[in-house]
Amino acid sequence: MTAQRTFNITLLPGDGVGPEVAAVAREVLDAVAAQCGRRFAYQTRLIGGAAIDQSGDPLPQETLAACLESDAVLLGAVGGPKWDRATVRPEAGLLAVRKALGLFANIRPLKVDPALVDFSPLKPAIVEDVDLVIVRELTGGSYYGDKRRFGDSASDLCIYSVPEIERVAHVAFNLARERLGKVTSVDKANVMETSRLWRETVNRVHAASYADVKLEHVLVDAMAMHLVRAPRNFDVILTENMFGDILSDEASMLAGSIGLAPSASLGANKPGLFEPVHGSAPDIAGRDLANPVGAVLSTAMLLRHGLGLTREAEIVEKSVAEALANGARTSDLGGGVGCREMGDAIIKEIHSAALPPGHRMPMHWG
Ligand code: NAD
Ligand code: IPM
Ligand code: MN
Repeated sequence: MTAQRTFNITLLPGDGVGPEVAAVAREVLDAVAAQCGRRFAYQTRLIGGAAIDQSGDPLPQETLAACLESDAVLLGAVGGPKWDRATVRPEAGLLAVRKALGLFANIRPLKVDPALVDFSPLKPAIVEDVDLVIVRELTGGSYYGDKRRFGDSASDLCIYSVPEIERVAHVAFNLARERLGKVTSVDKANVMETSRLWRETVNRVHAASYADVKLEHVLVDAMAMHLVRAPRNFDVILTENMFGDILSDEASMLAGSIGLAPSASLGANKPGLFEPVHGSAPDIAGRDLANPVGAVLSTAMLLRHGLGLTREAEIVEKSVAEALANGARTSDLGGGVGCREMGDAIIKEIHSAALPPGHRMPMHWG
């Protein structure tokens, strides 16, 4: 039998609830590895506030080096009130690692679990069967433009180039082809010049190569409204960095909690970074209250998109759905289950996942 290859995963637990949800995600990886005969090796590195405390740098060189050498990176969350007045902020570490790994496409799927339909703040008739994906541009726009203070003023330059828009548009159109074949591009073309360039470029990419995909354009203010009015109207939502940040927190509530939402940050040829949509949740950190599902579903995205392990990703997703169907609920979902206990409920389902016919555990004789 050929030796199993080892997949190298860099863990960046970060701050606040980050280490709590990342610990559960790692246990989930171990459980799926045992179930399917895979080998994962981990290196844990500092990022964000934890790294500032140790070295003054939110993305130390050795953290970036570990990310670049690995097959995939799993991040908890960064930030917190402790560093809010610091000159160097934890968030700068996350922005820097996204840029250094060239992670221009942030995929944020949002599927409403049938077991949680009644828990969403929106009516069940609005949210049931919602299944959409936000494709958020991640390395451009006002996040990365020149930032300045002058006199009593400040500015953040919002800048996009045609190639930056084209490459993320291709990601959205290709994703739509695997789904319902519809892209909604969101911008503010009635006001912003970057949005007018965005719309022209998306139209050109569409006309040149994706005539089979339906394309519509919606202004971002209206989109915030349509997302809660009729979320089933959307399949793939393509948008720039800041709009995608805001709309994805809004969209997470369709499913019931921001603690459920996963994401994958992908680029062209470097390791992907997999991160829950939520932040470090300082209000609940250190109390075993965080919902680890967003991090666990990010781990499923790591298995699928980062390592090409589709079956393993499906086992994780199915195990999350089963744990929820069996009634496991963290406090954000109105329950009393802690972060670790929620992880245990998911892992129990992984252990009982049936392997498909023809899929054999590696056997070692003698
Ligand atoms: P947040 O997402 O951390 O928290 C918003 C609310 O959602 C809080 O009430 C929190 O308790 C709740 N929440 C978040 N995650 C949860 C989980 N897993 N389970 C249960 N409830 C959860 O956003 P915030 O409070 O605006 O930001 C806090 C810090 O996190 C800031 O420093 C911010 O910059 C940072 N942040 C980091 C990331 C990231 O690392 N990717 C993302 C967003 C915010
Ligand atoms: C997210 C976060 C980050 C962002 C912050 C922490 C820099 O809100 O991943 O959604 O705005 O991209
Ligand atoms: Mn955000």
